[in-house]
Amino acid sequence: MHKALQGTLAVPGDKSITHRALIFACLTTGTSKIEGLSPAHDCLSTVACLRSMGVDIVVLEGEETPTAIVNSQGWQGIGNPSGILDAGNSGTTIRLLSGFVAGRPYEYEFDGDASLRKRPMKRVLTRVAEMGAEVSWLKTEGLAPFRIRGGKLEGKTFELDVASAQVETALLLAGLQASGKTVVKLPFPARDHTRRMFHYLGIPFESADELTTSVREISDSIPAKDMVVPADISSAAFFMVAAAIIPGSSITLKNVGINPGRTLVLDVLSRMNADIKVIGVNSLSGEPVADIRVRYNGQLSSASVTAEEIARGIDEIPILALAGAFSQGELSVSGAEELRHKESDRLQLIADNMRGAGAEIDLREDGFTIRGGKHLKGGSRWATADDHRLAMTGLVANLICQEELELEETESPRISYPNFAADLNSLL
Ligand code: S3P
Repeated sequence: MHKALQGTLAVPGDKSITHRALIFACLTTGTSKIEGLSPAHDCLSTVACLRSMGVDIVVLEGEETPTAIVNSQGWQGIGNPSGILDAGNSGTTIRLLSGFVAGRPYEYEFDGDASLRKRPMKRVLTRVAEMGAEVSWLKTEGLAPFRIRGGKLEGKTFELDVASAQVETALLLAGLQASGKTVVKLPFPARDHTRRMFHYLGIPFESADELTTSVREISDSIPAKDMVVPADISSAAFFMVAAAIIPGSSITLKNVGINPGRTLVLDVLSRMNADIKVIGVNSLSGEPVADIRVRYNGQLSSASVTAEEIARGIDEIPILALAGAFSQGELSVSGAEELRHKESDRLQLIADNMRGAGAEIDLREDGFTIRGGKHLKGGSRWATADDHRLAMTGLVANLICQEELELEETESPRISYPNFAADLNSLL
C-alpha cells in the first residue's frame, strides 16, 4: 500500500521571480522589502554576486520563505566586484547578471560549478559583445569561466531562436544601459515575469506583441518598491503529480504563481484528465496566484506536449514524465532539446531512470514518449547527476514504485527547494 498525500501546503517562493526581484530592485533607488523569497541556493548565489558588486542586501531568515531588504542606488550602486562572481549551479544568475553588468565600467569574472561550466553561454555573451561589452573566455570558448568588461552599449534588435526567458531578460537588462532601442523577440511564448516586474516597478518598456519587448536606457531614478513573491509552480508541480498518481491523495497548494508562461504543468495534467482545480485567482505584485487542488482519480489518459508550448513548462518535464508512466495511455513530449542543456542532460537521464525502473520509454533527440498502463517496479538506480529536479522526481517516484529506488543523492534539491523531502513527508 502506498501512502497517500493529504493536506495543505505552501511551497516556498518562486525562484525565477526571486532572482528578478533581487536584481531589478538594484535598478531602483531606496529600500525595498521583498517578501516570500525563494530559499533556493540558486537565489543565494544571486544575493552573493550582487553583494560582491557592492549592493547592500540583508536576508532575514524566516521559516521556509525569507524576506530580503535591498538598499539600492540604481546603476551607480553596481560597482567593481570584490572577487570572482560565483554563480554556483545557477544558469539564471550567470545569464541575467551577464546582461546586468554589460554596461558597467568595470571587469566582472564569472564562474560556476561543474554543471554550470558545461552550459551554453554564447546565447547571451555574443549578443552583449555585439552591443559593445568586451567578453573573454577564460578556459573554453562559449563556457564559464569568462570575463566581461562592461562598455558603452548600443541598442540592437535580437530575434532569438530559443524561447529563453533568461536570454531575453539578460539582453533587456543590457538594453536598459544602451543608447538607442534594444528589441528582443522570442520565437514562442515564455514566462513574462520580467515584463510584469518592469511594469510593477515602473521600469519603462514597450511590448509590440506577446513575443517582442523593447527598452531604452533608463535615465530617471526609479523609486524602490516592496514586492511579494508567489509560491513556485515549478516546486508545486512535484506535489501535483504525486497527488495525481498516488491513490487516495487530495491536496491543496496555496498561493501558487500561475503566470501563463509557467502553467504548462496545469494544462498537461488537465489534458490527462487529472482532477485538478485552480481556485480563487488573485494577484501578488503584478503576478497572478491561486490555490491549486489536486485529487487522485485513477484516470490519467494520454497527452502530448509540442515545441510551441514547451518553454511554458520546460522545468516540469521530468516530473510530468512520471505522470505519463502512471497514465492509462502515453505522454509524448517534442521540441524539448533545451532539456539537454539544463543542469544535466535531462532527456537522457529521464529515459535511463524510467527505463531502469521498468517504464517503457522511447527517447528522441528532442523528446520522448513514455507509456503507462502498468506499475513501476523500481528497485533500480536513479541517477541525478546532482540535478535537483531529477532528485525530486526520484523522491516522488520512490513513493509509488513497488521496490525502493536507489537514489544517487538527495542533496541537490537544495538548489531550488531545500526543505522538499520534509515538506513531502509532511503530506504523507
Ligand atoms: C528561467 C528560465 C528557464 C528555466 C530556468 C529559469 C528564468 O530557462 O529553465 O529554470 O528564470 O528565466 P530558459 O529561459 O533558458 O529556458
